[in-house]
Amino acid sequence: MEAIFKRRSVREYLNKDVTDEQIQKILHAGMSAPSAGNEQPWHFVVIKNKQKLEELTQLSPYAKMLNAANLAILVCGDLNRQKHEGYWMIDCAAATENMLLEITHLQLGAVWLGVYPRIERMKYLKEFFNLPANVEAFSMLSIGYPINSEAIINRFDASRVHLENW
Ligand SMILES: Cc1cc2nc3c(=O)[nH]c(=O)nc-3n(C[C@H](O)[C@H](O)[C@H](O)COP(=O)(O)O)c2cc1C
Repeated sequence: MEAIFKRRSVREYLNKDVTDEQIQKILHAGMSAPSAGNEQPWHFVVIKNKQKLEELTQLSPYAKMLNAANLAILVCGDLNRQKHEGYWMIDCAAATENMLLEITHLQLGAVWLGVYPRIERMKYLKEFFNLPANVEAFSMLSIGYPINSEAIINRFDASRVHLENW
């Protein structure tokens, strides 16, 4: 699958809007992820407002690229939807990666901004978006049209593969 090998973190974007049709495809990809017991505990907050995107750079010292993004999506987990306790964040990670792959496939670019398990970032986003008590912020994607095409890196490492036994 080409998108898996092409995907790189993209932190510089053109000032061009991602269309609602593209956003729909990205969300559809997120919701197509596998989840423990098929619990699908995710919710997504779509942010297009430039002022909000600028404010969200306060999330962490590593979120400055949101200044240049015309779109961000916050991936959240609904703790009330857990069938198997402790899996919501794993499900949300699968959804996040699915979205990154669809973004690559659409020839857009994105970077995964770490939220969970940093309590202060989760709290900041919970207050920022007024999330319900049972909903936790997991990750944020900063999305846009890439300015540069990032190099494809081959990370295959035979030393990490163990045949039949360690
Ligand atoms: C859980 C997680 C958290 C991350 N948090 C950030 C972040 O806060 N800011 C950022 O610029 N990149 C972040 N990244 C992106 C990584 O830096 C990036 O994936 C890594 O350097 C490998 O580069 P690549 O994505 O281009 O393959 C995060 C990635 C993951 C999986």
